[in-house]
Amino acid sequence: DAPETVTPTGAATGAPKISKSQQGAYLTTSQGARLRDTDHSLKAGPRGPILLQDHHFREKITHFDHERIPERVVHARGAGAHGLFTAYGTATDVTKAGFLAKGKQTQVFVRFSTVLGSRGSADTVRDTRGFATKFYTDEGTFDLVGNNIPVFFIQDAIKFPDIIHAGKWHPDREIPQAQSAHDTFWDFVSLHTEAQHHTMWNMSDRGIPRSYRHMEGFGVHTFRLINEAGATVLAKFHWKPKLGVHSLDWEEAQIAGGVDPDFHRRDLYDSIEAGAFPEWELGLQVFPDTEDETFAGIDLLDPTKIVPEELAPVQPVGRLVLNGVPTNFHAEVEQVAFHLGHLPPGIDVTNDPLLQGRLFSYVDTQLTRLGGPNFSQIPINRPHAPVNDMLRDGLHQHAVHGGVAPYRPNSLDGGNPFTTDTGFVDIPVRVAESTKVRENPVSFDDHYSQVRLFWRSMSPVEKEHIVRAYTFELAKCYEQAIKERQVQCLANIDPVLCEQVATGLGLPVPAPTVPFDAEVEPSPALSQIGGEWPA
Ligand code: HEM
Repeated sequence: DAPETVTPTGAATGAPKISKSQQGAYLTTSQGARLRDTDHSLKAGPRGPILLQDHHFREKITHFDHERIPERVVHARGAGAHGLFTAYGTATDVTKAGFLAKGKQTQVFVRFSTVLGSRGSADTVRDTRGFATKFYTDEGTFDLVGNNIPVFFIQDAIKFPDIIHAGKWHPDREIPQAQSAHDTFWDFVSLHTEAQHHTMWNMSDRGIPRSYRHMEGFGVHTFRLINEAGATVLAKFHWKPKLGVHSLDWEEAQIAGGVDPDFHRRDLYDSIEAGAFPEWELGLQVFPDTEDETFAGIDLLDPTKIVPEELAPVQPVGRLVLNGVPTNFHAEVEQVAFHLGHLPPGIDVTNDPLLQGRLFSYVDTQLTRLGGPNFSQIPINRPHAPVNDMLRDGLHQHAVHGGVAPYRPNSLDGGNPFTTDTGFVDIPVRVAESTKVRENPVSFDDHYSQVRLFWRSMSPVEKEHIVRAYTFELAKCYEQAIKERQVQCLANIDPVLCEQVATGLGLPVPAPTVPFDAEVEPSPALSQIGGEWPA
Protein backbone atom coordinates (compact mmCIF):
# COMPACT_ATOMS: atom_id res chain seq x y z
CA ASP A 1 0.00 0.00 0.00
CA ALA A 2 1.11 3.56 -0.63
CA PRO A 3 2.01 4.99 2.78
CA GLU A 4 0.06 8.11 3.69
CA THR A 5 -0.16 10.45 6.65
CA VAL A 6 -2.04 13.68 7.22
CA THR A 7 -0.28 16.96 8.00
CA PRO A 8 -1.39 19.45 10.69
CA THR A 9 -3.10 21.33 7.86
CA GLY A 10 -5.11 18.25 6.96
CA ALA A 11 -3.42 17.65 3.61
CA ALA A 12 -2.69 14.06 2.66
CA THR A 13 0.95 13.43 1.89
CA GLY A 14 3.12 10.51 0.96
CA ALA A 15 4.96 10.62 4.29
CA PRO A 16 5.78 7.16 5.61
CA LYS A 17 3.65 6.07 8.56
CA ILE A 18 5.18 6.54 11.99
CA SER A 19 6.43 3.18 13.22
CA LYS A 20 3.96 1.62 15.66
CA SER A 21 6.79 0.46 17.89
CA GLN A 22 7.42 4.08 18.82
CA GLN A 23 3.87 4.68 20.04
CA GLY A 24 3.60 2.44 23.14
CA ALA A 25 2.37 3.94 26.42
CA TYR A 26 5.55 3.20 28.34
CA LEU A 27 9.24 3.77 27.76
CA THR A 28 10.95 0.47 26.89
CA THR A 29 14.28 -0.96 25.83
CA SER A 30 14.66 -1.77 22.13
CA GLN A 31 13.43 -5.25 23.02
CA GLY A 32 10.19 -3.93 24.54
CA ALA A 33 11.02 -4.44 28.21
CA ARG A 34 9.38 -1.62 30.20
CA LEU A 35 11.82 0.63 31.99
CA ARG A 36 11.63 1.91 35.55
CA ASP A 37 14.64 4.26 35.29
CA THR A 38 16.64 5.74 32.43
CA ASP A 39 18.46 8.45 34.40
CA HIS A 40 20.76 6.40 36.60
CA SER A 41 23.28 3.79 35.50
CA LEU A 42 23.64 0.57 37.45
CA LYS A 43 26.56 1.04 39.84
CA ALA A 44 28.34 -0.81 42.63
CA GLY A 45 26.81 1.47 45.27
CA PRO A 46 25.82 5.13 44.80
CA ARG A 47 29.52 6.18 44.56
CA GLY A 48 30.79 3.07 42.81
CA PRO A 49 31.84 2.35 39.20
CA ILE A 50 29.26 1.47 36.51
CA LEU A 51 28.68 -2.26 36.11
CA LEU A 52 29.33 -3.85 32.71
CA GLN A 53 26.13 -5.81 33.16
CA ASP A 54 24.01 -2.63 32.78
CA HIS A 55 22.52 -3.58 29.42
CA HIS A 56 20.19 -0.57 29.29
CA PHE A 57 23.13 1.80 29.81
CA ARG A 58 25.20 0.08 27.12
CA GLU A 59 22.34 -0.09 24.64
CA LYS A 60 21.49 3.58 25.11
CA ILE A 61 25.10 4.81 24.79
CA THR A 62 26.05 2.41 21.98
CA HIS A 63 23.08 3.43 19.86
CA PHE A 64 23.83 7.10 20.43
CA ASP A 65 27.47 6.54 19.48
CA HIS A 66 26.29 5.30 16.05
CA GLU A 67 23.56 7.88 15.33
CA ARG A 68 25.39 9.72 12.57
CA ILE A 69 25.60 8.51 9.00
CA PRO A 70 28.05 9.99 6.46
CA GLU A 71 26.79 13.23 5.02
CA ARG A 72 26.31 13.35 1.27
CA VAL A 73 29.60 13.87 -0.59
CA VAL A 74 27.89 16.83 -2.28
CA HIS A 75 24.52 18.47 -1.53
CA ALA A 76 24.96 17.63 2.18
CA ARG A 77 22.92 20.60 3.37
CA GLY A 78 19.27 20.30 2.44
CA ALA A 79 15.62 20.26 3.42
CA GLY A 80 12.75 18.22 2.04
CA ALA A 81 8.97 18.19 1.89
CA HIS A 82 6.12 15.97 0.72
CA GLY A 83 3.70 17.00 -1.98
CA LEU A 84 1.30 16.15 -4.74
CA PHE A 85 1.83 16.41 -8.49
CA THR A 86 -1.20 16.80 -10.78
CA ALA A 87 -0.73 16.33 -14.52
CA TYR A 88 -2.49 18.53 -17.09
CA GLY A 89 -2.41 15.82 -19.73
CA THR A 90 -0.58 18.10 -22.18
CA ALA A 91 2.42 15.79 -22.43
CA THR A 92 0.60 12.66 -23.61
CA ASP A 93 1.45 13.42 -27.26
CA VAL A 94 5.14 13.12 -26.50
CA THR A 95 5.41 10.61 -23.65
CA LYS A 96 3.49 7.58 -22.48
CA ALA A 97 4.58 8.18 -18.86
CA GLY A 98 1.38 7.43 -16.92
CA PHE A 99 1.95 10.09 -14.26
CA LEU A 100 1.66 12.75 -16.98
CA ALA A 101 -1.82 11.60 -18.09
CA LYS A 102 -4.58 14.20 -17.69
CA GLY A 103 -5.72 14.62 -14.08
CA LYS A 104 -3.40 11.93 -12.74
CA GLN A 105 -2.20 12.68 -9.20
CA THR A 106 1.13 11.40 -7.90
CA GLN A 107 2.70 11.75 -4.47
CA VAL A 108 6.18 13.27 -4.42
CA PHE A 109 9.04 14.04 -2.08
CA VAL A 110 11.29 17.00 -2.92
CA ARG A 111 14.73 17.71 -1.44
CA PHE A 112 16.31 21.16 -1.91
CA SER A 113 19.98 21.61 -1.11
CA THR A 114 23.13 23.65 -1.47
CA VAL A 115 26.00 21.83 -3.18
CA LEU A 116 29.26 22.63 -1.44
CA GLY A 117 28.58 23.25 2.24
CA SER A 118 28.56 20.65 4.97
CA ARG A 119 25.36 19.47 6.58
CA GLY A 120 25.46 22.22 9.23
CA SER A 121 26.31 25.11 6.88
CA ALA A 122 24.12 28.15 6.25
CA ASP A 123 21.27 28.18 3.71
CA THR A 124 21.93 31.64 2.32
CA VAL A 125 25.38 31.21 0.74
CA ARG A 126 26.22 31.90 -2.90
CA ASP A 127 26.00 28.42 -4.46
CA THR A 128 23.96 26.29 -6.84
CA ARG A 129 20.83 24.77 -5.27
CA GLY A 130 19.71 21.17 -5.76
CA PHE A 131 16.05 20.56 -6.66
CA ALA A 132 15.50 16.79 -6.56
CA THR A 133 12.02 15.33 -6.94
CA LYS A 134 10.92 11.77 -6.31
CA PHE A 135 7.64 10.97 -8.07
CA TYR A 136 6.11 7.80 -6.57
CA THR A 137 4.36 6.82 -9.81
CA ASP A 138 2.17 3.74 -10.36
CA GLU A 139 4.74 2.58 -12.92
CA GLY A 140 7.74 2.83 -10.59
CA THR A 141 9.59 5.75 -9.07
CA PHE A 142 10.73 8.63 -11.29
CA ASP A 143 13.54 10.79 -9.88
CA LEU A 144 14.05 14.19 -11.51
CA VAL A 145 17.40 15.17 -9.96
CA GLY A 146 17.91 18.77 -10.98
CA ASN A 147 19.38 22.09 -9.92
CA ASN A 148 18.17 25.70 -9.84
CA ILE A 149 20.67 26.55 -12.59
CA PRO A 150 20.03 25.17 -16.10
CA VAL A 151 23.65 24.40 -17.01
CA PHE A 152 26.50 22.57 -15.31
CA PHE A 153 30.21 23.34 -14.82
CA ILE A 154 31.57 20.42 -16.82
CA GLN A 155 30.69 18.43 -19.92
CA ASP A 156 31.99 15.04 -18.83
CA ALA A 157 31.31 13.29 -15.51
CA ILE A 158 34.93 12.19 -15.24
CA LYS A 159 35.73 15.75 -14.12
CA PHE A 160 33.10 15.74 -11.35
CA PRO A 161 35.46 14.75 -8.51
CA ASP A 162 37.84 17.47 -9.74
CA ILE A 163 35.35 20.36 -9.79
CA ILE A 164 34.01 19.28 -6.40
CA HIS A 165 37.52 19.01 -4.90
CA ALA A 166 38.19 22.50 -6.28
CA GLY A 167 34.88 23.90 -5.00
CA LYS A 168 34.81 22.40 -1.52
CA TRP A 169 37.12 23.51 1.29
CA HIS A 170 40.89 23.71 0.87
CA PRO A 171 42.38 20.44 2.16
CA ASP A 172 44.80 22.22 4.50
CA ARG A 173 42.54 24.66 6.38
CA GLU A 174 39.00 23.49 5.53
CA ILE A 175 38.13 27.03 4.45
CA PRO A 176 35.69 28.10 3.13
CA GLN A 177 32.98 25.89 4.51
CA ALA A 178 30.20 26.79 2.16
CA GLN A 179 30.87 29.00 -0.82
CA SER A 180 32.83 29.45 -3.96
CA ALA A 181 35.17 32.31 -3.07
CA HIS A 182 38.64 30.83 -3.05
CA ASP A 183 41.71 30.01 -5.05
CA THR A 184 41.00 26.42 -6.04
CA PHE A 185 37.50 27.22 -7.33
CA TRP A 186 38.71 30.10 -9.51
CA ASP A 187 41.76 28.10 -10.53
CA PHE A 188 39.49 25.32 -11.83
CA VAL A 189 36.90 27.44 -13.63
CA SER A 190 39.51 29.61 -15.33
CA LEU A 191 41.45 26.55 -16.52
CA HIS A 192 38.35 24.52 -17.52
CA THR A 193 36.61 27.31 -19.37
CA GLU A 194 33.46 25.29 -20.08
CA ALA A 195 32.67 26.14 -16.42
CA GLN A 196 32.34 29.87 -17.19
CA HIS A 197 28.62 29.66 -18.03
CA HIS A 198 27.57 28.00 -14.77
CA THR A 199 29.95 30.33 -12.89
CA MET A 200 28.23 33.42 -14.22
CA TRP A 201 24.83 32.06 -13.12
CA ASN A 202 26.40 31.60 -9.66
CA MET A 203 27.75 35.17 -9.66
CA SER A 204 24.32 36.49 -10.71
CA ASP A 205 21.36 36.91 -8.36
CA ARG A 206 20.44 33.27 -9.12
CA GLY A 207 23.33 32.28 -6.83
CA ILE A 208 21.43 33.47 -3.73
CA PRO A 209 17.73 32.55 -3.93
CA ARG A 210 15.24 34.40 -1.72
CA SER A 211 13.77 31.04 -0.69
CA TYR A 212 13.24 27.58 -2.14
CA ARG A 213 9.71 28.74 -3.05
CA HIS A 214 11.24 31.37 -5.34
CA MET A 215 13.52 29.07 -7.33
CA GLU A 216 13.24 27.60 -10.79
CA GLY A 217 14.38 24.00 -11.22
CA PHE A 218 16.02 22.39 -14.25
CA GLY A 219 16.67 18.79 -15.21
CA VAL A 220 19.69 20.29 -17.06
CA HIS A 221 20.29 17.32 -19.39
CA THR A 222 18.29 16.51 -22.48
CA PHE A 223 16.12 13.39 -22.05
CA ARG A 224 14.48 11.23 -24.70
CA LEU A 225 10.70 10.73 -24.47
CA ILE A 226 8.62 8.09 -26.23
CA ASN A 227 4.85 8.11 -26.74
CA GLU A 228 2.30 5.30 -27.07
CA ALA A 229 2.82 5.15 -30.84
CA GLY A 230 6.58 4.72 -30.40
CA ALA A 231 7.52 8.22 -31.64
CA THR A 232 10.38 9.93 -29.82
CA VAL A 233 11.34 13.53 -29.04
CA LEU A 234 14.17 15.09 -27.07
CA ALA A 235 13.17 17.21 -24.07
CA LYS A 236 14.40 19.31 -21.15
CA PHE A 237 12.51 19.51 -17.83
CA HIS A 238 11.81 22.85 -16.11
CA TRP A 239 10.14 23.79 -12.81
CA LYS A 240 8.57 27.30 -12.74
CA PRO A 241 7.73 28.64 -9.25
CA LYS A 242 4.24 30.11 -8.81
CA LEU A 243 5.72 32.98 -6.78
CA GLY A 244 8.21 33.89 -9.52
CA VAL A 245 12.00 33.92 -9.26
CA HIS A 246 13.38 36.15 -6.49
CA SER A 247 16.80 36.49 -4.94
CA LEU A 248 18.48 37.92 -1.90
CA ASP A 249 20.87 40.80 -2.38
CA TRP A 250 24.35 40.04 -1.04
CA GLU A 251 23.92 42.24 2.07
CA GLU A 252 20.46 40.78 2.76
CA ALA A 253 21.94 37.28 2.53
CA GLN A 254 24.67 38.16 5.03
CA ILE A 255 22.17 39.51 7.53
CA ALA A 256 19.62 36.72 7.01
CA GLY A 257 22.32 34.05 7.25
CA GLY A 258 23.86 35.61 10.32
CA VAL A 259 20.58 35.95 12.15
CA ASP A 260 19.18 32.62 10.96
CA PRO A 261 21.41 30.09 9.14
CA ASP A 262 18.24 27.98 8.63
CA PHE A 263 16.59 30.80 6.67
CA HIS A 264 15.47 28.70 3.67
CA ARG A 265 14.62 25.60 5.66
CA ARG A 266 12.49 27.61 8.06
CA ASP A 267 10.72 29.41 5.22
CA LEU A 268 9.85 26.08 3.57
CA TYR A 269 8.38 24.51 6.70
CA ASP A 270 6.71 27.66 8.05
CA SER A 271 4.96 28.30 4.75
CA ILE A 272 3.68 24.72 4.52
CA GLU A 273 2.43 24.76 8.11
CA ALA A 274 0.73 28.11 7.50
CA GLY A 275 -1.12 26.55 4.54
CA ALA A 276 0.76 28.74 2.00
CA PHE A 277 1.82 25.64 0.06
CA PRO A 278 4.78 26.20 -2.29
CA GLU A 279 3.84 25.51 -5.92
CA TRP A 280 5.63 24.93 -9.19
CA GLU A 281 4.58 24.13 -12.71
CA LEU A 282 6.48 21.37 -14.48
CA GLY A 283 7.25 22.26 -18.07
CA LEU A 284 8.95 20.70 -21.07
CA GLN A 285 11.06 22.15 -23.84
CA VAL A 286 10.59 19.73 -26.72
CA PHE A 287 12.93 19.22 -29.68
CA PRO A 288 12.77 16.90 -32.68
CA ASP A 289 14.78 13.72 -32.18
CA THR A 290 17.21 14.27 -35.01
CA GLU A 291 20.28 12.20 -35.79
CA ASP A 292 22.70 14.98 -34.79
CA GLU A 293 20.80 15.75 -31.54
CA THR A 294 21.11 19.49 -32.03
CA PHE A 295 18.51 22.25 -31.99
CA ALA A 296 19.04 25.69 -33.53
CA GLY A 297 22.75 24.91 -33.76
CA ILE A 298 22.97 23.99 -30.07
CA ASP A 299 24.29 20.54 -29.16
CA LEU A 300 21.58 19.07 -26.93
CA LEU A 301 24.09 16.70 -25.34
CA ASP A 302 26.23 19.56 -24.02
CA PRO A 303 25.12 20.27 -20.41
CA THR A 304 26.90 23.65 -20.38
CA LYS A 305 24.36 25.01 -22.89
CA ILE A 306 20.75 26.09 -22.58
CA VAL A 307 18.21 26.31 -25.36
CA PRO A 308 16.76 29.83 -25.06
CA GLU A 309 13.06 29.73 -24.24
CA GLU A 310 12.42 32.12 -27.16
CA LEU A 311 13.51 29.29 -29.45
CA ALA A 312 11.69 26.48 -27.66
CA PRO A 313 9.02 27.65 -25.21
CA VAL A 314 8.56 25.80 -21.93
CA GLN A 315 5.21 24.03 -22.20
CA PRO A 316 3.42 23.40 -18.89
CA VAL A 317 2.58 19.72 -18.25
CA GLY A 318 1.57 19.65 -14.57
CA ARG A 319 1.51 21.28 -11.15
CA LEU A 320 3.41 20.44 -7.97
CA VAL A 321 2.12 21.47 -4.53
CA LEU A 322 4.26 20.86 -1.44
CA ASN A 323 1.89 20.24 1.46
CA GLY A 324 3.64 18.08 4.06
CA VAL A 325 6.63 18.63 6.33
CA PRO A 326 8.71 15.58 7.25
CA THR A 327 7.76 13.69 10.40
CA ASN A 328 11.38 12.77 11.02
CA PHE A 329 14.20 14.64 9.28
CA HIS A 330 16.71 11.80 9.46
CA ALA A 331 14.30 9.13 8.24
CA GLU A 332 13.07 11.18 5.30
CA VAL A 333 15.38 14.05 4.30
CA GLU A 334 18.68 12.41 5.21
CA GLN A 335 17.83 8.91 4.03
CA VAL A 336 16.13 9.78 0.76
CA ALA A 337 18.16 8.42 -2.17
CA PHE A 338 17.69 9.90 -5.63
CA HIS A 339 19.00 8.39 -8.84
CA LEU A 340 18.74 9.41 -12.49
CA GLY A 341 18.22 5.82 -13.51
CA HIS A 342 14.85 5.73 -11.72
CA LEU A 343 12.78 6.25 -14.86
CA PRO A 344 9.19 5.28 -15.74
CA PRO A 345 8.16 3.95 -19.16
CA GLY A 346 8.08 6.91 -21.55
CA ILE A 347 11.21 8.71 -20.30
CA ASP A 348 14.75 7.63 -21.17
CA VAL A 349 18.27 9.01 -21.04
CA THR A 350 20.51 10.41 -23.78
CA ASN A 351 24.24 10.12 -24.37
CA ASP A 352 25.06 13.41 -22.58
CA PRO A 353 28.41 12.37 -21.03
CA LEU A 354 27.60 14.11 -17.75
CA LEU A 355 24.28 12.30 -17.51
CA GLN A 356 25.91 8.99 -18.38
CA GLY A 357 28.39 9.35 -15.50
CA ARG A 358 25.68 10.36 -13.05
CA LEU A 359 23.89 7.10 -13.85
CA PHE A 360 26.80 5.32 -12.16
CA SER A 361 27.56 7.69 -9.28
CA TYR A 362 24.38 7.95 -7.19
CA VAL A 363 23.79 4.28 -6.32
CA ASP A 364 27.50 3.86 -5.78
CA THR A 365 27.67 6.63 -3.17
CA GLN A 366 24.41 5.55 -1.54
CA LEU A 367 25.80 2.04 -0.98
CA THR A 368 28.21 3.66 1.47
CA ARG A 369 26.05 6.51 2.75
CA LEU A 370 23.06 4.30 3.53
CA GLY A 371 24.96 1.20 4.61
CA GLY A 372 24.59 -1.48 1.95
CA PRO A 373 22.43 -2.53 -0.96
CA ASN A 374 18.95 -2.50 0.61
CA PHE A 375 18.33 1.25 0.98
CA SER A 376 15.38 1.11 -1.41
CA GLN A 377 13.54 -0.60 1.48
CA ILE A 378 13.89 2.49 3.71
CA PRO A 379 10.34 3.88 3.95
CA ILE A 380 11.05 7.17 2.11
CA ASN A 381 12.68 5.25 -0.75
CA ARG A 382 10.01 2.55 -1.13
CA PRO A 383 8.23 2.74 -4.47
CA HIS A 384 4.44 3.09 -4.30
CA ALA A 385 4.22 0.63 -7.19
CA PRO A 386 4.27 -3.08 -6.29
CA VAL A 387 7.81 -4.47 -6.14
CA ASN A 388 8.68 -8.02 -7.20
CA ASP A 389 12.40 -8.10 -7.80
CA MET A 390 14.94 -10.90 -7.58
CA LEU A 391 17.30 -8.98 -5.28
CA ARG A 392 18.01 -10.98 -2.13
CA ASP A 393 19.77 -10.80 1.24
CA GLY A 394 22.52 -8.25 1.96
CA LEU A 395 23.11 -5.88 4.86
CA HIS A 396 19.97 -4.40 6.45
CA GLN A 397 17.58 -6.69 4.61
CA HIS A 398 14.10 -5.97 6.00
CA ALA A 399 11.99 -8.03 3.62
CA VAL A 400 11.15 -11.65 4.43
CA HIS A 401 11.14 -13.02 0.91
CA GLY A 402 8.95 -16.02 0.30
CA GLY A 403 9.54 -18.59 -2.41
CA VAL A 404 12.63 -20.51 -3.36
CA ALA A 405 13.32 -19.46 -6.93
CA PRO A 406 14.61 -15.88 -7.32
CA TYR A 407 15.47 -16.45 -10.96
CA ARG A 408 13.51 -16.60 -14.16
CA PRO A 409 12.02 -18.45 -15.79
CA ASN A 410 11.34 -20.91 -13.01
CA SER A 411 8.90 -23.75 -12.54
CA LEU A 412 8.54 -23.43 -8.75
CA ASP A 413 7.39 -19.90 -7.84
CA GLY A 414 5.12 -18.93 -10.72
CA GLY A 415 7.97 -18.26 -13.14
CA ASN A 416 8.52 -14.49 -12.55
CA PRO A 417 6.82 -13.61 -15.85
CA PHE A 418 7.66 -10.36 -17.66
CA THR A 419 5.00 -7.81 -18.45
CA THR A 420 3.96 -7.97 -22.10
CA ASP A 421 2.89 -4.38 -22.71
CA THR A 422 3.39 -1.97 -19.78
CA GLY A 423 7.08 -2.28 -18.97
CA PHE A 424 9.96 0.13 -19.22
CA VAL A 425 11.16 0.79 -22.75
CA ASP A 426 14.84 1.19 -23.54
CA ILE A 427 14.31 3.33 -26.60
CA PRO A 428 16.16 1.50 -29.39
CA VAL A 429 18.32 4.40 -30.54
CA ARG A 430 21.15 3.61 -32.90
CA VAL A 431 24.55 3.74 -31.22
CA ALA A 432 26.94 5.22 -33.75
CA GLU A 433 29.68 2.92 -34.94
CA SER A 434 32.77 4.76 -33.93
CA THR A 435 36.30 4.52 -32.58
CA LYS A 436 37.07 4.42 -28.87
CA VAL A 437 38.37 7.87 -27.90
CA ARG A 438 38.82 10.11 -24.90
CA GLU A 439 37.71 13.38 -26.51
CA ASN A 440 34.76 15.76 -26.81
CA PRO A 441 32.85 16.51 -30.00
CA VAL A 442 33.88 19.84 -31.55
CA SER A 443 30.35 21.11 -30.87
CA PHE A 444 31.36 21.26 -27.15
CA ASP A 445 34.19 23.72 -27.91
CA ASP A 446 32.37 27.05 -27.68
CA HIS A 447 32.65 28.08 -24.01
CA TYR A 448 31.79 31.75 -24.22
CA SER A 449 28.90 32.70 -26.54
CA GLN A 450 26.12 31.54 -24.18
CA VAL A 451 27.80 33.26 -21.22
CA ARG A 452 27.76 36.44 -23.28
CA LEU A 453 24.10 35.84 -24.12
CA PHE A 454 23.32 35.53 -20.40
CA TRP A 455 25.30 38.68 -19.48
CA ARG A 456 23.67 40.70 -22.23
CA SER A 457 20.16 39.61 -21.20
CA MET A 458 20.64 41.12 -17.72
CA SER A 459 19.15 44.44 -16.59
CA PRO A 460 21.55 47.22 -15.45
CA VAL A 461 20.93 46.36 -11.77
CA GLU A 462 21.51 42.66 -12.38
CA LYS A 463 24.73 43.49 -14.24
CA GLU A 464 25.87 45.62 -11.32
CA HIS A 465 25.27 42.68 -8.97
CA ILE A 466 27.26 40.36 -11.25
CA VAL A 467 30.22 42.75 -11.41
CA ARG A 468 30.12 43.18 -7.63
CA ALA A 469 30.03 39.42 -7.08
CA TYR A 470 32.98 38.66 -9.40
CA THR A 471 35.00 41.51 -7.87
CA PHE A 472 34.24 40.53 -4.27
CA GLU A 473 34.82 36.79 -4.74
CA LEU A 474 37.99 37.16 -6.85
CA ALA A 475 39.41 39.70 -4.42
CA LYS A 476 39.53 36.90 -1.85
CA CYS A 477 41.97 34.83 -3.95
CA TYR A 478 45.52 34.80 -2.64
CA GLU A 479 47.11 34.00 -6.03
CA GLN A 480 47.41 36.96 -8.41
CA ALA A 481 47.83 34.67 -11.44
CA ILE A 482 44.44 33.06 -10.80
CA LYS A 483 42.67 36.43 -10.65
CA GLU A 484 44.36 37.44 -13.90
CA ARG A 485 43.40 34.21 -15.65
CA GLN A 486 39.74 34.64 -14.64
CA VAL A 487 39.77 38.27 -15.78
CA GLN A 488 41.04 36.97 -19.14
CA CYS A 489 37.99 34.70 -19.29
CA LEU A 490 35.78 37.74 -18.64
CA ALA A 491 37.52 39.53 -21.53
CA ASN A 492 36.43 36.64 -23.72
CA ILE A 493 32.84 37.10 -22.53
CA ASP A 494 32.28 40.86 -22.67
CA PRO A 495 34.58 43.92 -22.64
CA VAL A 496 32.39 46.00 -20.29
CA LEU A 497 32.09 43.20 -17.73
CA CYS A 498 35.83 42.59 -17.93
CA GLU A 499 36.76 46.25 -17.62
CA GLN A 500 34.56 46.76 -14.55
CA VAL A 501 35.80 43.69 -12.69
CA ALA A 502 39.45 44.27 -13.63
CA THR A 503 39.23 47.88 -12.44
CA GLY A 504 37.66 46.75 -9.16
CA LEU A 505 40.54 44.35 -8.66
CA GLY A 506 43.19 46.88 -9.71
CA LEU A 507 44.24 44.70 -12.65
CA PRO A 508 44.97 45.61 -16.29
CA VAL A 509 42.17 44.99 -18.81
CA PRO A 510 43.24 42.23 -21.24
CA ALA A 511 42.13 41.86 -24.86
CA PRO A 512 39.96 38.84 -25.75
CA THR A 513 41.79 35.70 -26.89
CA VAL A 514 38.82 34.09 -28.66
CA PRO A 515 36.79 35.52 -31.57
CA PHE A 516 33.40 37.07 -30.79
CA ASP A 517 31.48 35.66 -33.74
CA ALA A 518 29.84 32.62 -32.14
CA GLU A 519 26.50 34.23 -31.16
CA VAL A 520 23.46 31.97 -30.84
CA GLU A 521 20.97 33.12 -33.41
CA PRO A 522 17.27 32.24 -33.20
CA SER A 523 16.12 29.88 -35.92
CA PRO A 524 12.49 30.75 -36.79
CA ALA A 525 11.86 27.51 -38.63
CA LEU A 526 12.87 25.30 -35.73
CA SER A 527 11.45 27.49 -32.98
CA GLN A 528 7.97 26.84 -34.32
CA ILE A 529 8.16 23.26 -33.11
CA GLY A 530 7.48 24.43 -29.57
CA GLY A 531 4.44 26.36 -30.80
CA GLU A 532 2.69 23.20 -31.98
CA TRP A 533 2.27 21.94 -28.43
CA PRO A 534 -1.38 21.59 -27.36
CA ALA A 535 -2.46 24.46 -25.07
C1 HEM B 1 23.72 14.66 -5.20
C2 HEM B 1 22.12 17.32 -8.85
C3 HEM B 1 26.03 16.21 -11.45
C4 HEM B 1 27.15 13.01 -8.10
C5 HEM B 1 22.97 15.49 -5.95
C6 HEM B 1 21.78 16.12 -5.52
C7 HEM B 1 21.31 16.85 -6.54
C8 HEM B 1 22.23 16.70 -7.63
C9 HEM B 1 20.06 17.68 -6.57
C10 HEM B 1 21.15 16.02 -4.14
C11 HEM B 1 20.28 14.82 -4.02
C12 HEM B 1 19.62 14.80 -2.70
O1 HEM B 1 18.97 15.80 -2.34
O2 HEM B 1 19.71 13.76 -2.02
C13 HEM B 1 23.07 17.24 -9.85
C14 HEM B 1 22.95 17.90 -11.12
C15 HEM B 1 24.06 17.60 -11.85
C16 HEM B 1 24.87 16.75 -11.03
C17 HEM B 1 21.76 18.72 -11.56
C18 HEM B 1 24.45 17.98 -13.25
C19 HEM B 1 23.61 18.37 -14.14
C20 HEM B 1 26.61 15.19 -10.81
C21 HEM B 1 27.68 14.40 -11.35
C22 HEM B 1 27.99 13.48 -10.41
C23 HEM B 1 27.12 13.70 -9.27
C24 HEM B 1 28.31 14.59 -12.73
C25 HEM B 1 29.02 12.41 -10.45
C26 HEM B 1 29.53 11.89 -11.53
C27 HEM B 1 26.35 13.24 -7.02
C28 HEM B 1 26.48 12.54 -5.77
C29 HEM B 1 25.49 13.01 -4.92
C30 HEM B 1 24.78 14.00 -5.68
C31 HEM B 1 27.50 11.47 -5.43
C32 HEM B 1 25.19 12.58 -3.51
C33 HEM B 1 24.01 11.62 -3.56
C34 HEM B 1 23.66 10.99 -2.24
O3 HEM B 1 24.52 10.90 -1.36
O4 HEM B 1 22.51 10.56 -2.10
N1 HEM B 1 23.23 15.86 -7.26
N2 HEM B 1 24.24 16.56 -9.82
N3 HEM B 1 26.28 14.73 -9.57
N4 HEM B 1 25.32 14.13 -6.94
FE1 HEM B 1 24.74 15.28 -8.39
